[in-house]
Amino acid sequence: MLIHTIAEVREQIKLWKKEGLTIGLVPTMGALHAGHLSLIKKAVEKCDKVVVSVFVNPIQFCPGEDLDKYPRTLEADQKLCEDAGVNIVFAPSPAEMYGENQMRTNDFLTYVIPPFFYVNKLCGKSRVGHFDGVCTVVNKLFNIVQPDFAFFGQKDAQQLIIIKKMVKDLNIPVEIIPCPIVRESSGLALSSRNKYLSDDDKIQALALSKILNNIKNCYQKGITDVEALKETAYSFLNENHDLEYLEFMDENNLDEVKKANDNTRVFIACKVGGVRLIDNILLKD
Ligand code: PAJ
Repeated sequence: MLIHTIAEVREQIKLWKKEGLTIGLVPTMGALHAGHLSLIKKAVEKCDKVVVSVFVNPIQFCPGEDLDKYPRTLEADQKLCEDAGVNIVFAPSPAEMYGENQMRTNDFLTYVIPPFFYVNKLCGKSRVGHFDGVCTVVNKLFNIVQPDFAFFGQKDAQQLIIIKKMVKDLNIPVEIIPCPIVRESSGLALSSRNKYLSDDDKIQALALSKILNNIKNCYQKGITDVEALKETAYSFLNENHDLEYLEFMDENNLDEVKKANDNTRVFIACKVGGVRLIDNILLKD
């Protein structure tokens, strides 16, 4: 069932709650691919009813980012969701979520701001305000759908950690279910932004997963010095790559790590053909 308004979603949720049914939420920005579908499949297995939100959230895009050209494929998304057993596809307009014109400036909107320690690194460093926008919209979706479980991908590991922190700090009654990264057979992590890549860019983009896998192999052979592990990346990079960061952080709290251990997650962001790609890997098996 495709729903565009908050009021209609609330009505349906009320009925389900009355029946004591468990509700799963999968927040997305649409252009659904197998990565999203893995979250949806997990939700359908675990919950009595599943809501997938499809909303290209304007307040999480920074000036100059791809808000206008971000792929919008609602009809195809709806079909994929229906085939997967989703009960509601919630696709609000920006005005429905934020009121007319409110999102043009944050002077008039109440935001949920994650702690500086979690956002002054990795993607938050270049995408200033991005995680404010993510936490605000996810919090709104939690309030609208009141899910028992919400499903997020490890593909956006910093986002997942920040959302877990928000849920804990604000006592939001939802359980966050992390889901593993889905990749093409080549190793490339699936992303809606892969649509921007040319065939050649796609080959160059394999450097991200190769770098991460190679670091994991080196770690498992006994190298723990982060600087030495970082050095191994350079042989995979060439003039087609614009490396933004390669960082080693504690998987649980985003503390920077100097000596790698089983709880270390390695994060990479790199532009290929002007397209910003991210990936990450946990060093533990
Ligand atoms: P979006 O990029 O559409 O991603 C929606 C969810 O799908 C996120 O939890 C993301 O981590 C997960 N996902 C994307 N690619 C994946 C892959 N290859 N493997 C596993 N999971 C994958 O993330 C967002 O939207 C937005 O920030 C959102 C949370 C919806 C808030 O607007």
